[in-house]
Amino acid sequence: MSMLSIQNLEAGYGKVKVLHGISMEVPKGKVVTLIGSNGAGKTTAMRAISGMIKPTAGTISLKDQRIDGLESHRIARYGIAHSPEGRRVFATMTVTDNLILGAFPRLTRSRPKGDVDGDLERALELFPRLKERRLQLAGTLSGGEQQMLAMARAVMLAPEVVLLDEPSMGLAPILVDEVFRIIERLKGEGVTMLLVEQFAAAALAVADYGYVLENGRIATHGEASKLKNDPGVKEAYLGTSH
Ligand SMILES: Nc1ncnc2c1ncn2[C@@H]1O[C@H](COP(=O)(O)OP(=O)(O)O)[C@@H](O)[C@H]1O
Ligand SMILES: [Mg+2]
Repeated sequence: MSMLSIQNLEAGYGKVKVLHGISMEVPKGKVVTLIGSNGAGKTTAMRAISGMIKPTAGTISLKDQRIDGLESHRIARYGIAHSPEGRRVFATMTVTDNLILGAFPRLTRSRPKGDVDGDLERALELFPRLKERRLQLAGTLSGGEQQMLAMARAVMLAPEVVLLDEPSMGLAPILVDEVFRIIERLKGEGVTMLLVEQFAAAALAVADYGYVLENGRIATHGEASKLKNDPGVKEAYLGTSH
């Protein structure tokens, strides 16, 4: 069953069209990666899915419910959590308050409330660096820690789907490894994810399925294990070390 289904999605900024009709399926419990060069439109796709920008054509469905065109806060209430590119945390709030804010849509009856306190503990266990700094103001965290906070906040929605836009961007290698370990763990817990990553090889290693975006169009797609060995994909996105 497709958790998130995107059909012929077009989106852009003002008169500039960036996405020229992309279609993707994210099945329940799977990790799907969207890879592509800088400027291909990956972030734009994430923004269109989460409602940060309005699609100009096409459909986006979450569990067969149309969500395209809805306001971003309503899309969050349906269960799409967006961990955006760059570190979008609330700088003047503590780590813990940022995380509780991630659960906010669950306090409005739109999402199952569940055990918010328990999930807060769980999120802090998953991200030990944040646990140590739970009372620190988010703006005083390092860039890598802020990136982890954005991921952890997304998880606090107990979402149907998590959109992760370059979670490893700007991180030291040791933190990049940690981010991918966390993604593995979330996958093991059955969290459905759409992952955009500059480290295409690592993304394809954790993902079940991949799409390659070139100039706002899906150039190729397939099982992640097959894409990893696709000569064109290797040459363009997986570096020269093969
Ligand atoms: N806020 C914006 N306003 C106008 N153009 C934008 C904006 N954000 C991105 N773009 C343009 O959209 C295109 C795709 O960008 P983006 O989706 O960020 O690519 P990617 O995430 O794949 O690197 C680029 O040409 C970029 O310059
Ligand atoms: Mg981007």
